[in-house]
Amino acid sequence: MHARLAHDFERFGRGLPRAAAAYVREAYGVDLTARYLGYSIPHPIGKGSGQLSLNAEQLETDRQAGLAFAVLKTVIAEDAAGERSMGAWAVREARMRVERRRARDGRVGWTVTWKGRGWDRPFEDYLALVRTAGDLTRDGALLAVPSATYHLPRLDEPFRESEYRHTTLRLAEAWGGGVLPLEQDFSPTLAGDSLAGERARILRWLREVPVQLRGAGGPTPLRLALKLMNARFDDAFQREMMAAAAGADALVCFNRLWDGSSKVAYGGWDLSERNLRVLREARRDRLARPGGAASPTLVGTGNICSGRLVLDYARAGCESVELHTFFQLPLAEYPASAGSRTQRALHVLLFHPVDGLVAGMLELEAAGVLHRRGGELRFLDVCATESPCA
Ligand SMILES: Cc1cc2nc3c(=O)[nH]c(=O)nc-3n(C[C@H](O)[C@H](O)[C@H](O)COP(=O)(O)O)c2cc1C
Repeated sequence: MHARLAHDFERFGRGLPRAAAAYVREAYGVDLTARYLGYSIPHPIGKGSGQLSLNAEQLETDRQAGLAFAVLKTVIAEDAAGERSMGAWAVREARMRVERRRARDGRVGWTVTWKGRGWDRPFEDYLALVRTAGDLTRDGALLAVPSATYHLPRLDEPFRESEYRHTTLRLAEAWGGGVLPLEQDFSPTLAGDSLAGERARILRWLREVPVQLRGAGGPTPLRLALKLMNARFDDAFQREMMAAAAGADALVCFNRLWDGSSKVAYGGWDLSERNLRVLREARRDRLARPGGAASPTLVGTGNICSGRLVLDYARAGCESVELHTFFQLPLAEYPASAGSRTQRALHVLLFHPVDGLVAGMLELEAAGVLHRRGGELRFLDVCATESPCA
């Protein structure tokens, strides 16, 4: 198996097959089927919302690469008059710097330094992109999911329902039929803002945003993921946030950290360290109360730069993962010699003979923690709550 993996890694570096997951199943008896917001996807690796999903060309490149899903850039909600309560989040900023960042434990990883926030073009342009996303999703070409940030009130204020209704209805119309998948982003810049300075206010948002959104899209059924921020409080509060967000269908855990001194969001090893620590603690909480109410499914995000990291998030309960930074590295950082950045990233994440996802699953099997069922190793067995893997 190892020799075969080394050979595949070498040859796929010159061109990754689009149906890589089908190949992995056939060649290694490894079923990478994963789940994102109720959709079955061929493998767990998707793209997080951001600057890499701003237009139809980027989606087409991702479709060709065989990415499992892509979340569109976050749009800032508006009401019928075009008023945006979160308008301060729609700032224009083109310049991004992909840089090394040393974590507190000394490990050096990558981060993207960028001062921008949400979608900065007209809402109509976003709706055109959502039309493309709906078509791609229904055709089975690429699951492509809109993302939005809606009004988040202070404790003594009501939610601006008109903004929730108008934006969700327009998104549903543009989507064009069937269930509308949607992420609501609680961004790191929000975590760094005085608006998120109070715990009670954040918990109220997480409890009430799903209520506001259900039904806001008219007859279109909604599947809702809340992308939780790393709030400026302790790990226990992160878990409180997860519990408060029980009305969502999925939770994306957790968006980037906030550097209060340089006023930028950042990633790297500090981010995965914190996210995995909180997710593992949350998993222990869930295991301690079997038979409790069904909780939202989990999607991991943060410093996923190898198949091993995908498995770390899976062992903490995540059924899929969303990457951003790893799709932005300088070309020389990818071992593949050809293909788009998405293809080159998938190549090393899936096939690296030591740190890749397939190698990691075979290693779990050899260690006796993951077992074949019907002759196959299954990715979703790694994430199952009752799995002995974690
Ligand atoms: C330049 C940049 C822009 C981003 N914009 C958004 C956004 O608009 N909405 C959102 O939900 N997440 C956004 N993110 C967060 C990413 O989707 C991702 O969850 C986060 O960066 C952690 O993953 P990573 O370590 O692989 O980058 C952005 C990230 C970066 C680096």
